[in-house]
Amino acid sequence: MTDRELISAALGARRDSYSPYSGCRVGAALLTADGELFTGCNVENASFGLTVCAERTAFFKAVSAGKRDFLKIAVAGGKGDKPDTYFYPCGACRQVMKEFCGGDFEIITAVDEDDYVTKTLDELLPLGFGPGEVKD
Ligand code: THU
Repeated sequence: MTDRELISAALGARRDSYSPYSGCRVGAALLTADGELFTGCNVENASFGLTVCAERTAFFKAVSAGKRDFLKIAVAGGKGDKPDTYFYPCGACRQVMKEFCGGDFEIITAVDEDDYVTKTLDELLPLGFGPGEVKD
């Protein structure tokens, strides 16, 4: 799967965003090591703290389907009809990525298929705390 295809999937997932409170529509598309794709959108709640981000929706869908190895995720978000800015994952989502991914896991934040930035998890969560510190 190309980065362009992954971004298209994130933009598609963004259409299902449930975001009546913030108006920020976010979509994510997660690629597993065995080539499967899991998408997610943000799901808000009247009790604001219960909101789940698009990235974590995608991760939890994949993990609950038995996946544990991941290559990259594309994220697209913004308030307008189309994204107009780079939406980087929040701290909570970076920590969930850290649970399952190595430092070379790629995070693509996209305005569209031709306008995107790629960072690694090590770049977005330097010196992070992860399962290696806890597991025997
Ligand atoms: N949001 C995401 O879905 N992903 C992020 O990485 C940042 C924030 C959502 C949560 C909330 O619904 C809205 O964007 C505003 O914070």
